Amino acid sequence: MAEDISINAGSKAEQYESLIPQIKGLLTGESDLIANLANIAAALKEQFGWFWVGFYLVKNEELVLGPFQGPVACTRITKGRGVCGTSWAKAATLIVPDVEKFPGHIACSSISKSEIVVPIILNGTVIGVLDVDSSEYNSFDETDQRFLESIVTLLNRH
Ligand code: SME
Repeated sequence: MAEDISINAGSKAEQYESLIPQIKGLLTGESDLIANLANIAAALKEQFGWFWVGFYLVKNEELVLGPFQGPVACTRITKGRGVCGTSWAKAATLIVPDVEKFPGHIACSSISKSEIVVPIILNGTVIGVLDVDSSEYNSFDETDQRFLESIVTLLNRH
C-alpha cells in the first residue's frame, strides 16, 4: 500500500531530487499504466502545488484526457493543436512562459498562465504527454524539463 509522500521545501532541483525516488517507489511492482500515471500526477501536484498536472494519452490519432489533478479539462486534442498536440507532433518537450503568446494554445482555463508539456515516448512512439499548467507566468525552465523527462522515462521500465 502506498504511503504518504514526504514534501520537500528546498530549491526546485532539491524538490525533484526528493520526489523522484518516492515516485520510483510508487511505481515499483505496479505495471498498470493508468494507476502509475494517476500516482505520478498526484505526487507532482502535492509537491509543487501547480494549478493542473495530468496526462493525455494517444487514442485513435487523438490525445484523450487521462489521469490528472486539478480542475476539469478539455477531453480531446488533435495532433499538432495546442501545446499538447504540438509536443506530440514534434516528440519534444515544450516550455511556454506565457500561454497567450503560444499560437493555437488551447485554453482549458483562463487561470493557466504558463505550461510545460513532456512527451511520453515508449519504443520510439509518443503514447501520450505529461501536461503541467501554472497560474503564474514563467513557472517552468530547463530544470523542470530535465526532471519531468526523467520522471516519464520511469514508465518505460513498467
Ligand atoms: N493548454 C493545453 C491543453 C490542455 S489543458 O491546459 C489541461 C494545450 O494547449 O495543449
